[in-house]
Amino acid sequence: MSGLKFLALVIREPKQKVLTLESYKEPSLEPGEILVQNVAVAQNPIDWKQVDQVPGNPPLPSYPWTDGVDLAGVVYKVGPKVTKFRPGDRIISITSRKTPRHGAYQTYMIVSEDNTVKLPSNSVSFEAGSTIPLGYITAAAGLIDALDLPVPPLDGPLPAKPNGEPLLVWGGSSSVGFYAVQAAKLAGFTVFATASPHNFDYVKSAGADQVFDYHDSDVTNRIRSAAGNKLSKVYDAISENGSTESAVKCITTRSGRVAVILVPKPGASTPTVKMIMTGSVAFQNPRIAKAVLGLLETALHRDVFITNRAKVLPKGLLGVNDGFELARNNEVSGEKLVYRISETPGI
Ligand SMILES: NC(=O)c1ccc[n+]([C@@H]2O[C@H](COP(=O)([O-])OP(=O)(O)OC[C@H]3O[C@@H](n4cnc5c(N)ncnc54)[C@H](OP(=O)(O)O)[C@@H]3O)[C@@H](O)[C@H]2O)c1
Repeated sequence: MSGLKFLALVIREPKQKVLTLESYKEPSLEPGEILVQNVAVAQNPIDWKQVDQVPGNPPLPSYPWTDGVDLAGVVYKVGPKVTKFRPGDRIISITSRKTPRHGAYQTYMIVSEDNTVKLPSNSVSFEAGSTIPLGYITAAAGLIDALDLPVPPLDGPLPAKPNGEPLLVWGGSSSVGFYAVQAAKLAGFTVFATASPHNFDYVKSAGADQVFDYHDSDVTNRIRSAAGNKLSKVYDAISENGSTESAVKCITTRSGRVAVILVPKPGASTPTVKMIMTGSVAFQNPRIAKAVLGLLETALHRDVFITNRAKVLPKGLLGVNDGFELARNNEVSGEKLVYRISETPGI
């Protein structure tokens, strides 16, 4: 194919404020790898936190680097030993962070076949699809690993039959929290969540049975009353600024578990409540990865999967600089920032 532009958003130094576009040569593929023509890419907190070197986040592997975790696009080429995909397939995938050519903020990127899922032909747009990978994988893998979420049989009904058990998601309007609400609902739980009131309907659209305002000073008592005496499982999708301490107070059983996604403070666990860090568990445990991606594929193809609300910022890849500023200023609420590659100046 001629006329291709290989353009990447490049980080040349730590704490760089404005990232710029640079061209690169078409990369070669190793066994099991796919070259994707990105159509839409989505922003995650780790993208800007790594650039800014926010404590608690791993440094970028090297400079120059190309950031970006989540993508939706079309398979352009497949490498040796790829069996499940062929050129033209609509897919979503996630970065492996192996080299700068494996980052999402560029026009073509390399992904691994194992972390890639086909998007159904009509029901999910590239923009909506790009919001799924990191948020959903983090949420579903954490629920399975830390809170023993049973994966519903994929040949049975979705959502699974209600199991009468409550589960609380702290931060249900965050990208991860929204997908945690949905995964818990698909597994049959009664789901409680917290959010700001303007996001209550959004969190309910993911399946939450009741949503509570986390700004309310009495929120933990309200959740306890609503959940009765059976709440032992909490997924803390925020894991900072006091969310975990509040989440612990909501547990109404004798002992319980809280899944956290940022490293907890030393001594955060109590004699009766265990804190479990879940982070990147899907990538370390093939059993969990298979369960998480299988559930996603089935829900997508049955058209019962609900994606984060996508807010498309203008200017394509160059819009990422504006998105990072919004995130730095805490101005992302109940939506995922998304960029259309075709809107990048010079494409
Ligand atoms: N370990 C991992 O593998 C992993 C993976 C993904 C994300 N993360 C981390 O998880 C966190 C969330 O990521 P994300 O992409 O889901 O973020 P996000 O969507 O950008 O989070 C924004 C949302 O957080 C909510 N929020 C903020 N403070 C809250 C609080 N104290 N209680 C309840 N809700 C609160 C806001 O709710 P309202 O607007 O409704 O108030 C807002 O909707 C980030 O710190 C990220 O770095 C870790």
